Amino acid sequence: MDLKSHINREKLPLHIAIIMDGNGRWAKQKGKPRVFGHRNGVKAVRETTEAAAELGIKYLTLYAFSTENWNRPKLEVNALMALLVETIRSEIKTLNKNGIRLQAIGDISKLPPRSYKELQNAMESTRDNDRMTLVLALNYSAKWEIMKAVKDLAQLVEDGSLSANDINEGTFANALSTKGMPDPELLIRTSGETRISNFLLWQIAYSELYFTPTFWPDFRKEDLYKAIIDYQQRERRFGKISEQVV
Ligand code: IPE
Ligand code: IPE
Ligand code: MG
Repeated sequence: MDLKSHINREKLPLHIAIIMDGNGRWAKQKGKPRVFGHRNGVKAVRETTEAAAELGIKYLTLYAFSTENWNRPKLEVNALMALLVETIRSEIKTLNKNGIRLQAIGDISKLPPRSYKELQNAMESTRDNDRMTLVLALNYSAKWEIMKAVKDLAQLVEDGSLSANDINEGTFANALSTKGMPDPELLIRTSGETRISNFLLWQIAYSELYFTPTFWPDFRKEDLYKAIIDYQQRERRFGKISEQVV
């Protein structure tokens, strides 16, 4: 079946977020080291990015490294950081060719200097592209982000430039690292795990959640199409009753 033609172009999500999970288990199944799984995950990133851009999705956010992932074996962390540098460097051309802007959310200043530099360079080089924004969540955790927003707002109040009364959903959202981005309508997690793992807690308040048993290195364009078709069949009621939303 040609899945792509079953997608309703009038009802596309503006923003899709993905928890790319299952690289380690994918490799283990093949009797290979975990890092082999991460390397093969790059192809899935490429395919997904291309598919999203072709469809006209405006924002694609990929959870690439959480603040908790620093607790993995040093060898794996180092390999992931090296892969990041390598991948970003080799993809800049393609991103520019396809009109894709690269952005990052998370405490990226704490990344190894080489990774940080490469990332800054790629963000700078793609800043004027406007077909789609690819957001990498790197050294990201939602609790870190929310704490930071609270502190930044508290500082403004302390300085006298903001009144506590003026803090609302809008000002709070603008203090998050996703400032200016629409909330994801669709959140996908691969690998069969059904948890959020400290990702975008504020922004996914009303997202549709989609879980697939597919391990991330096996995720292809068709898998993204399937998720979008599933999303399009749901009724998003936002607290109302069915008759009010049709
Ligand atoms: C996701 O795959 C990639 C990162 C978290 C960096 P995992 O490495 O978590 O793979 P599993 O979940 O152990 O299989
Ligand atoms: C979440 O995956 C983080 C990323 C995909 C980058 P994990 O594999 O680290 O999450 P847990 O440990 O299963 O919750
Ligand atoms: Mg995992």
